[in-house]
Amino acid sequence: MGSNIVVFLSATLLVFFLWSVGADKDINGITLRGRSLESKKVFNVRRYGAHGDGRHDDTRSIAKTWAAACSSSQSAVVLIPRGKRHLINHVTLSGPCKSSIMLMIEGTLMAPPKGSHWSKKTNRHWIMFNDVDGLTIAGGGTIDGNGKIWWQNSCKTNSRPPCKQAPTALTFYSCKNLKLENLKLVNSQQIHMSVEDCSHVKIARLSITAPGTSPNTDGIHITRSKHVQVRDCTIKTGDDCMSIEDGTENLHASNIVCGPGHGISIGSLGDRGSRAHVVNVTVDTAWLYGTANGARIKTWQGGRGYAKNIVFENMVMGDVRNPIVIDQNYCDSATPCRKQKSAVEVSNVLFKNIRGTSASKEAIKLRCSTSVPCHGITLENVKLTLKGGDGVAKSTCENAKWRKSGTVTPQPCTIGN
Ligand SMILES: *[C@@H]1O[C@H](CO)[C@@H](O)[C@H](O)[C@H]1NC(C)=O
Repeated sequence: MGSNIVVFLSATLLVFFLWSVGADKDINGITLRGRSLESKKVFNVRRYGAHGDGRHDDTRSIAKTWAAACSSSQSAVVLIPRGKRHLINHVTLSGPCKSSIMLMIEGTLMAPPKGSHWSKKTNRHWIMFNDVDGLTIAGGGTIDGNGKIWWQNSCKTNSRPPCKQAPTALTFYSCKNLKLENLKLVNSQQIHMSVEDCSHVKIARLSITAPGTSPNTDGIHITRSKHVQVRDCTIKTGDDCMSIEDGTENLHASNIVCGPGHGISIGSLGDRGSRAHVVNVTVDTAWLYGTANGARIKTWQGGRGYAKNIVFENMVMGDVRNPIVIDQNYCDSATPCRKQKSAVEVSNVLFKNIRGTSASKEAIKLRCSTSVPCHGITLENVKLTLKGGDGVAKSTCENAKWRKSGTVTPQPCTIGN
């Protein structure tokens, strides 16, 4: 009896002790309590030889830390400590891991600032997460792509050799139960983050920043992924703030601030005769400032498949060149695209509560396919005026079956369904 009480008391004291040292994250391998209810084991990159001085290459140390954390049977935290700058090259951090894993970025991860420091392997990824179930990345730190050297040699700017295809800064491939929150992504070489073949993804409180002139620096790119939530993000880049591509199902994006950039786009879909499907996408509450497009769906001629059940609602446009666009004749190629019969079908799209200013006369543009007209398009409570107030905004339609609800300004060009 007496010894039981002693065991109980010492266990209680031990738990209390572990809880009280919880704030000391520098001790590698200690079990923390208090940060969350679950106990976690911390793997500090410094213990694995990382310099964190912004000069030495820390790629190997980070990979080693990841490997140790990934094989931990206890929930693991990989810690990138505050105040440190870690220079890293191409790296793939792979699962499956034994337990859930958290990458706590409190400091900075930075890409090599000079082209000569990049490893010679042609690799279109900078940091890649592959096949991880239960990954969380948080910590308020920064991921800096040092993109300048890539932008200068961008194929978008100059397609003559020696242009180089730049890497995507963060790629999440085949991840499940992925969470990203409270991070700063800056100056990516190309796309800031790409979510591919993932499911159950939650992205929140990201700040993504690159110059408006930087080529192909999309903010958040999503493809072949299901059940994705994006909220409370501020995205300022040289390309789409969000690009929602083939295979996206059940995406909900809310509270997005975008601009400069190309806006929030679904597509482009169906390039080179490919089959695409996008279904159940809602963009709710977004502010776009000075972007090329606002709410956009773009598909190539000759594609197949569909984009349907799409809602863009509660959006404010500030001097957006094309606030509302469906373009089924999208053609982003050096040579003109020829007319083709097949197209990605666009249907059941709602544009609701959208107001603000258009920087071009064409505030609403529905340019649909002759052979596969878009249908079930609704415009509800839209008020878009021409920037500066000199002249009136208008709408243009081709092969669009749409209806309006509430008041729609500019006047819709045709009504039918
Ligand atoms: C799309 O949403 C509808 C309505 O909520 C649902 O019934 C359907 O299963 C969803 N489609 C997919 C592919 O998840």
